[in-house]
Amino acid sequence: MSSYHFILNLLLHMSYYVGAADVDIWATLNRSVNGNFHSAKPFSLPCFSLHDGSESSPDLMLCNEIQASYTDSLYRAEFYNGFSNNQDEMCLANNTDKCLLDPVSPSNPSSFTNRSCNQGSVSEYYIDVQSPSDILAAFKFSRDTGIKLSIKNSGHDYLGRSSLKDSLALWTRNLRHLSRDSAFIPEGCSASILEPLNTITTAAGVNTDEVYNFADSQNVTFIGPYGTSIGVSGGWVQGGGHTVLSTVYGIGIDRVLQFKVITPDGVERVANACQNEDLFWALRGGGGGTFGVVLESTHRVEKAMSLIVSEVRYQQTGGNVNSWFELLVNNSLPWARQGWGGHFRSNNLVSVTPLLSLEEAKASMKAATDFALANNGTFTVESLPSWQAFYTKYLTPNQAAVGTPRILASRLIPSILFSSQEGRTALFELLQKALKLGLSPYIPTDTPFLYPYPQNSTSSTIAWRDAVWMLSFGVDIGWNATLLQQTAILAKQASLIKDIEDMIVEFGGVVGSYFNEDSPWTENWTGKWWGKDNYWRLLGIKKRYDPESLLGCWKCVGFKEEDVHDKFPCYGGISSLA
Ligand SMILES: Cc1cc2nc3c(=O)[nH]c(=O)nc-3n(C[C@H](O)[C@H](O)[C@H](O)COP(=O)(O)OP(=O)(O)OC[C@H]3O[C@@H](n4cnc5c(N)ncnc54)[C@H](O)[C@@H]3O)c2cc1C
Ligand SMILES: *[C@@H]1O[C@H](CO)[C@@H](O)[C@H](O)[C@H]1NC(C)=O
Ligand SMILES: *[C@@H]1O[C@H](CO)[C@@H](O)[C@H](O)[C@H]1NC(C)=O
Ligand SMILES: *[C@@H]1O[C@H](CO)[C@@H](O)[C@H](O)[C@H]1NC(C)=O
Ligand SMILES: *[C@@H]1O[C@H](CO)[C@@H](O)[C@H](O)[C@H]1NC(C)=O
Ligand SMILES: *[C@@H]1O[C@H](CO)[C@@H](O)[C@H](O)[C@H]1NC(C)=O
Ligand SMILES: *[C@@H]1O[C@H](CO)[C@@H](O)[C@H](O)[C@H]1NC(C)=O
Ligand SMILES: *[C@@H]1O[C@H](CO)[C@@H](O)[C@H](O)[C@H]1NC(C)=O
Ligand SMILES: *[C@@H]1O[C@H](CO)[C@@H](O)[C@H](O)[C@H]1NC(C)=O
Ligand SMILES: *[C@@H]1O[C@H](CO)[C@@H](O)[C@H](O)[C@H]1NC(C)=O
Repeated sequence: MSSYHFILNLLLHMSYYVGAADVDIWATLNRSVNGNFHSAKPFSLPCFSLHDGSESSPDLMLCNEIQASYTDSLYRAEFYNGFSNNQDEMCLANNTDKCLLDPVSPSNPSSFTNRSCNQGSVSEYYIDVQSPSDILAAFKFSRDTGIKLSIKNSGHDYLGRSSLKDSLALWTRNLRHLSRDSAFIPEGCSASILEPLNTITTAAGVNTDEVYNFADSQNVTFIGPYGTSIGVSGGWVQGGGHTVLSTVYGIGIDRVLQFKVITPDGVERVANACQNEDLFWALRGGGGGTFGVVLESTHRVEKAMSLIVSEVRYQQTGGNVNSWFELLVNNSLPWARQGWGGHFRSNNLVSVTPLLSLEEAKASMKAATDFALANNGTFTVESLPSWQAFYTKYLTPNQAAVGTPRILASRLIPSILFSSQEGRTALFELLQKALKLGLSPYIPTDTPFLYPYPQNSTSSTIAWRDAVWMLSFGVDIGWNATLLQQTAILAKQASLIKDIEDMIVEFGGVVGSYFNEDSPWTENWTGKWWGKDNYWRLLGIKKRYDPESLLGCWKCVGFKEEDVHDKFPCYGGISSLA
């Protein structure tokens, strides 16, 4: 960032500063939300003796508890200020503006001794939303004062969208009802038009772990994400929502049947196939934090089912990682056709299919299990009685790390890269290049490859529909990285992503990505995340339901390039990265 931009940021930013606003407006707001209004300081403050440069008393007991649970996403999600991805807590563009511990060793004193814990992106005030009237009061407050709003559910967002410096935050975790309807008809629809479906309805704050336990108690399968504390009705489903069963059953936006939502124009609405259809379409892929505050969503569920699972790992030595990736590239298309969905890493894979018998699965995975045998590895191909059994045995112990600033960047890889020898060679060469750069791929192979997609039924990029992989390269920035180190690693990541794009273009594929797992600095983001036609339609819907732009987040539908620096100083400062 040039010093000119730095000063400009500072000046523009100051005019939006709300911390010094009249105390009365806050007291009035608090009364209008029945006392559900609170102030917030950073999650790790109890370990520090300075807050924003002023003295603060450490709380050793609480600090110990925070250190013990520092990388536990379920623990963090119980607090407004606990975000799984630390970029949501810090200010990346001014990276001394943060309050982080060392995630590898949270009791490492050098992270909190003689350092100031700074507020970062964490709102100073939030509403612990208990009812629709709290949300209506927040919209009115924002309209009257000009103070921006942000919405935080579980705080998993990789784009930093669940926080916003100097905003009033709406925290939705405490909206927790769950219900089952085995013959659901969307409100306003008639049974003669739509067949009643088996469903679960989850309120905005319910997390994955709770939904899976509930579905299991109801003897049904909820098709949901890989993580214990993701908000199913929040960013996950509004953004797309992939799962290891998506290959066969579709992504979250394919399965959601209804939203209840309060739009910024101050109306509580039902959005489904029979009313507010435009809003329903927008909420199916348009992204969280944009069209309103979702109160609950209703999802189709499947019958209880047994699943075939394969887990393969091997000892990475010498150059065998290259053969491993060649094997994965060679086999991914046939595996997708057999319903396998899962995750590949440089030393293992975990995949699931509801379509094969155990014998068929063993034959299908033979190339990978032979590889494990030849490379001092281990494997399991087994049948498990239910999703819950899979969740407990494979998913909870294999979760992605939290408690660190981690930036993802990814592209959906179309089938053409797998169906020809030239395509496979190009993809394999790209993976080799990544490994040489020290970037290790994380590959969810859970695109909706076999799902019969009704054209235009959702607003996400069409690249989902033909993709076999989501190829992603995440980078940990480090709790103590300098701005220079941070820039260097992000630039390396961006340059590799550009190579993936060039490869896709060369093979005539659609360049698209899943924004929930893409970089905040993605170039030409509207085209990649939604496509040009979808984006224009989404923009029209945004203006209809949020005419005063009360909701705004970084690179969400309706984001204005001229706001890059003044309204989003923590991201705007590094917008010219790629
Ligand atoms: C460890 C980990 C594992 C993951 N695994 C998967 C996976 O398997 N599949 C997958 O698809 N994604 C996965 N993700 C990505 C995840 O789906 C996104 O981070 C998603 O945005 C999380 O939504 P949230 O509501 O829980 O999080 P938050 O960060 O709280 O919110 C995300 C966005 O949604 C908005 N939002 C939240 N609640 C509401 C609401 N009630 N109304 C309106 N807007 C709202 C927020 O403002 C923000 O813009 C994973 C992420 C992590 C960190
Ligand atoms: C809001 O009111 C409640 C109930 O009176 C009180 O406990 C809380 O501290 C108030 N919030 C703030 C930030 O003053
Ligand atoms: C960067 O953050 C520090 C710590 O919060 C703060 O003192 C400083 O003013 C910030 N700089 C800018 C340009 O915002
Ligand atoms: C903190 O600062 C004090 C005084 O400057 C110094 O004595 C002490 O060694 C420092 N501690 C650490 C962990 O850097
Ligand atoms: C659970 O559902 C499955 C599949 O529909 C059914 O075969 C089984 O009998 C059910 N189990 C119970 C305990 O209801
Ligand atoms: C991948 O396929 C190519 C072409 O069929 C073959 O030459 C190569 O040996 C295969 N590699 C692995 C590891 O399966
Ligand atoms: C195989 O793995 C074991 C345990 O991880 C290790 O002790 C052994 O040295 C490995 N052997 C080879 C040939 O890599
Ligand atoms: C899908 O949308 C595109 C452009 O928005 C349009 O040309 C096409 O006809 C639509 N297809 C269907 C099946 O509605
Ligand atoms: C960050 O902290 C780690 C672990 O304490 C240390 O090894 C590393 O040198 C530090 N990096 C910087 C830039 O200070
Ligand atoms: C972004 O889009 C513009 C116009 O379509 C194009 O010229 C440019 O090359 C694109 N940039 C990238 C990085 O794809």
